[in-house]
Amino acid sequence: MEIRTVGVVGAGQMGNGIAHVFSLAGYDVILADISEDSLKKALATIDRNIERQVSRGKVTAEDKAAALARIRTTLTLSDVGATDLIIEAATEKETVKQAIFQDLLPHLLPHTILTSNTSSISITRLASRTDRPEKFMGFHFMNPVPVMQLVELIRGIATDQDTWESMHAVVRQLGKTASSSEDFPAFIVNRILMPMINEAVYTLYEGVGSVKSIDESLKLGANHPMGPLELADFIGLDTCLSIMNVLHEGLADTKYRPCPLLTKYVEAGWLGRKTQRGFYDYRGEVPVPTR
Ligand code: CAA
Repeated sequence: MEIRTVGVVGAGQMGNGIAHVFSLAGYDVILADISEDSLKKALATIDRNIERQVSRGKVTAEDKAAALARIRTTLTLSDVGATDLIIEAATEKETVKQAIFQDLLPHLLPHTILTSNTSSISITRLASRTDRPEKFMGFHFMNPVPVMQLVELIRGIATDQDTWESMHAVVRQLGKTASSSEDFPAFIVNRILMPMINEAVYTLYEGVGSVKSIDESLKLGANHPMGPLELADFIGLDTCLSIMNVLHEGLADTKYRPCPLLTKYVEAGWLGRKTQRGFYDYRGEVPVPTR
């Protein structure tokens, strides 16, 4: 099935990145959010991030203008219904995601494919509450969306082959690479990445190393672009904790228990870059380790 129009629900960090890459790839995008302010900020972020690509010669000024002209914003969720593909990128709370899909159902076209950018919630369970579990799958982008090459495609138990193949074609059209994952807690990337981050927090908690020595070890010793604690701050410590909880509860194995120090940072509201404090303090000129 050919996909031309795409609805993105949620204009936050992931939603604006998704709108960015789809509009640059030639799709017409409708970006929906409940906040006018979030929509304005999202458009400004997209403009700034495409401009970076223009200044590095990766995108022309004409392509930038055409991409921005292909993005429409709305505060009315139902406006997104009549599109070929919907990508839900709202808050990582199952009740919020379920409510969005429920509200969208009466407005969908018969062929509309529904996807969620969830990083860990069961695709099969989300799909089961809709009228089209066979046209429902996981479409998981990595942060920052315009830069990261991978998109994880997650097959729910009922996802049909046509839907699966259509989404692989869309990922190719975006110039990205798809990995295929079955629908089990946290899929592939976070199943592996989050226990590593959690282990880095245990390494700090047990006094094996400082924030600086842990991050430097993995950057210089394993060629990771960011150390695990810097990466945790980048992703958001609340997100890291919630994914560890999904792994712990979903797989019922104590090896996934979240580190108490991670819980403590989240309880303090030190969630990483977005609150300006996490394993680093970002309020000054340069990030300073908080331990
Ligand atoms: N939009 C467009 N371009 C961007 C961008 C954005 N938001 N952010 C960075 N860039 C571009 C820069 O313009 C630059 O482009 P060139 O290569 O053409 O010069 C390039 O990306 C590198 O950026 P910088 O030079 O500013 O910074 P850097 O070299 O330190 O790289 C980084 C930054 C790409 C974020 C790198 O540190 C990195 O790869 N970090 C790891 C990110 C990661 O692991 N992400 C996955 C998180 S897990 C996840 O997302 C799943 C989940 O569910 C939690």
